[in-house]
Amino acid sequence: MAIITFSSPLMHKDKAVYGVAGDTKTILALAEDNRIPIPFDCRDGNCGSCLIEVTYDNPDQKKAIMLTDKEKQKLKDLGKLTQEEIEDAEVRDMPPRYRLACQFIARDEDVTVTFSGTPGGA
Ligand code: FES
Repeated sequence: MAIITFSSPLMHKDKAVYGVAGDTKTILALAEDNRIPIPFDCRDGNCGSCLIEVTYDNPDQKKAIMLTDKEKQKLKDLGKLTQEEIEDAEVRDMPPRYRLACQFIARDEDVTVTFSGTPGGA
């Protein structure tokens, strides 16, 4: 079971949420279920409003990283993802620092998700 910890200056304190094994909810959907105010607009990887910073609580626990073409392109457009980071993610299972909450599905790994509350501001 994954533990997703949300952290933002908008929140009084960090909030930990349990992701259910086999669940395919995005981080944005989990945040909404728990009234965590990650900004969003399109919910489809197009606008970049839901930019988040992700850290892995236990780096040894990392799993293969899946980035959709849409997420890769948007993160590149925002200057938040380099070609080298894409290769690190796809070849070496090294996750990129920034993700889109509406595209990222946390599986078994425990992560901390940080956001500023400014759309696209991570
Ligand atoms: Fe638009 Fe995630 S809400 S990219």
